[in-house]
Amino acid sequence: MKYGGPEVLAIYDLPEIHAGPGQLRIRNHAATVNPTDIMSRSGMLSDQQKGTPPPFVPGMEAAGVVDEVGEGVTTGVHVGDSVLGLVIPRGTHGAYREQIVLNAHSVVRLPAGKTFAEACTLPMNGLTARMSLDLLNLSPGQTIAVTGAAGAYGGYVIQLAKAEGLRVIADASEKDEALVKSLGADLVVRRGNDVAARIRALFPDGVDGLADGAVLNELVIPAVRDGGAFTSVRGFQGEPQRGIKFSRTFVMNYDGKLDELERLRRQVENGTLTLRLAGTYPKEQAAAAHKRLEAGGTRGRLVIEF
Ligand SMILES: NC(=O)c1ccc[n+]([C@@H]2O[C@H](COP(=O)([O-])OP(=O)(O)OC[C@H]3O[C@@H](n4cnc5c(N)ncnc54)[C@H](OP(=O)(O)O)[C@@H]3O)[C@@H](O)[C@H]2O)c1
Repeated sequence: MKYGGPEVLAIYDLPEIHAGPGQLRIRNHAATVNPTDIMSRSGMLSDQQKGTPPPFVPGMEAAGVVDEVGEGVTTGVHVGDSVLGLVIPRGTHGAYREQIVLNAHSVVRLPAGKTFAEACTLPMNGLTARMSLDLLNLSPGQTIAVTGAAGAYGGYVIQLAKAEGLRVIADASEKDEALVKSLGADLVVRRGNDVAARIRALFPDGVDGLADGAVLNELVIPAVRDGGAFTSVRGFQGEPQRGIKFSRTFVMNYDGKLDELERLRRQVENGTLTLRLAGTYPKEQAAAAHKRLEAGGTRGRLVIEF
């Protein structure tokens, strides 16, 4: 297995695995294609993959049917249940596989009425959005700015923020404006490197919090008020300035938070969160899914089916 373009994705036969104590084995039917999968495939995460032998199986979100329950599982999930789960990839453990074993606390039932392909779009970006909002720690009535708002993470941040009574200002290209408004943004500004100035034009003192899904980093710090909060999604820390509380959102810190995943599932069922599926690909066409995501402009998530 080598790093490279979409063409390096290949199908492997892997040994059967079993659910250990506290674990579930899932016959996986669907896995999302996320930006981090592209990083994994292309070698950008090779440092993290050192120490585990190839092949490396990417993928952070899975949905399928439980076919084995390990000893001591108390989460109420049984063989035959349709479930979704968060996957923290390591070596051959990744969501792009037909058989996967997960900690039972990383798995919940499918939201009612949703397909595997739809459901697998929830856990990773949903928990990431949840963690960002927790880190920003805003109160009802305060204002949050969201960049990359048309993306999977940005969309969930908007919807969760609205559910918590926050005022949301989001960025969008002209063609995404209607989408971002439909997700609940109160105000939309044109996206771009100078988005901070456009946010400041509407909020002269700056916003209370900012979730930077577009990874604009220092370019967007000026949008935040003195003493406000800024959370990044790719490790950006921010130079200390103006009393701003910088935090870094890493979804792996929310792996195993069953209550949070369960809450997200209910929020899909009650209409708070919208699952956005952009297209499905059979596993043999995983490379095509990667190419499409890399081309940019995907709205909703691409999913590989198994
Ligand atoms: N730390 C974590 O645990 C964690 C977890 C989940 C996601 N992430 C990261 O969060 C980011 C968003 O993830 P995602 O799944 O939401 O990705 P996504 O669905 O591809 O969304 C990203 C959005 O940002 C837009 N965008 C790109 N460059 C922009 C710019 N310069 N200004 C404004 N908008 C821009 C994209 O538009 P185009 O499609 O037109 O380029 C897209 O709408 C990614 O970097 C991902 O790796 C981190």
